[in-house]
Amino acid sequence: MTLSDKIKDVIRDIPDFPKPGIVFKDITPILSNSKLVTEVVDWFVEKGKQDNIDVVVGVESRGFLFGLLIAEKMGVPFVPVRKQGKLPYKTIAHSYDLEYGSATVEIHEDALKPGQKVMIHDDLLATGGTAMAAAELVKQIGGKVCNYTFLIELGFLNGKENIGLDNNEAIHSII
Ligand code: PRP
Ligand code: ADE
Repeated sequence: MTLSDKIKDVIRDIPDFPKPGIVFKDITPILSNSKLVTEVVDWFVEKGKQDNIDVVVGVESRGFLFGLLIAEKMGVPFVPVRKQGKLPYKTIAHSYDLEYGSATVEIHEDALKPGQKVMIHDDLLATGGTAMAAAELVKQIGGKVCNYTFLIELGFLNGKENIGLDNNEAIHSII
C-alpha cells in the first residue's frame, strides 16, 4: 500500500465544517498512528534533502504538527508562522483570503538568516493563500523559498497555479 493510500484510508471527510458547503479533511486520525506519522515525516525529510533546504517554516496550527518533526529529523531549525497577535517579539504581518474566510499571519522579524533556504510546510493546500502569505513573510525577512510541502492538495482550488512559482520552487504533496 502506498503512503498516499494509507493516509486516504484514515483521514475523514467532514461535510459542512467549519461552514456550509466546505468538506473538511480531518487529518487527526493520522496522529494516532505513530508508525504512519514516522512514514509521513520521512517522506517530507526526503523532499527537504532533495531540495537542499536548511529551515522548515510551519504554518499555524496544523503546519506545526509535522513541521517541527521534519525539522528535528533533518537537524535544521523550525520557524513558526502564526496567526496575528500570537508571536511575542517584533513581527511582520501579511493578510490573505482562504477557502473559508480571511486571516493575517506573522513571523518574527529575526527568525531567518539572510539567504537561508526554506521549506514552507502545512497540512493542506487549498487556495494557496496561506502558503503564499507564508512565502511573502519568508522573503521579507531575507529567506529563500525552496519548496512547499503538504500532506493533501485540493486540486480543484488551483492552489498550485495560484502560488505562481517565480523561482522554480517545488511543490510536494503526498495526496
Ligand atoms: C487551513 C490549513 C491551511 C490553510 C489552507 O488552516 O491548515 O493552513 O487552511 O487553505 P488555503 O490554501 O486556502 O490558504 P486554517 O486557517 O483553517 O487554520 P488551522 O490550521 O489553525 O486549523
Ligand atoms: N483548509 C482549507 N480548506 C480545507 C479543507 N477543505 N479541509 C481541511 N483544511 C482546510
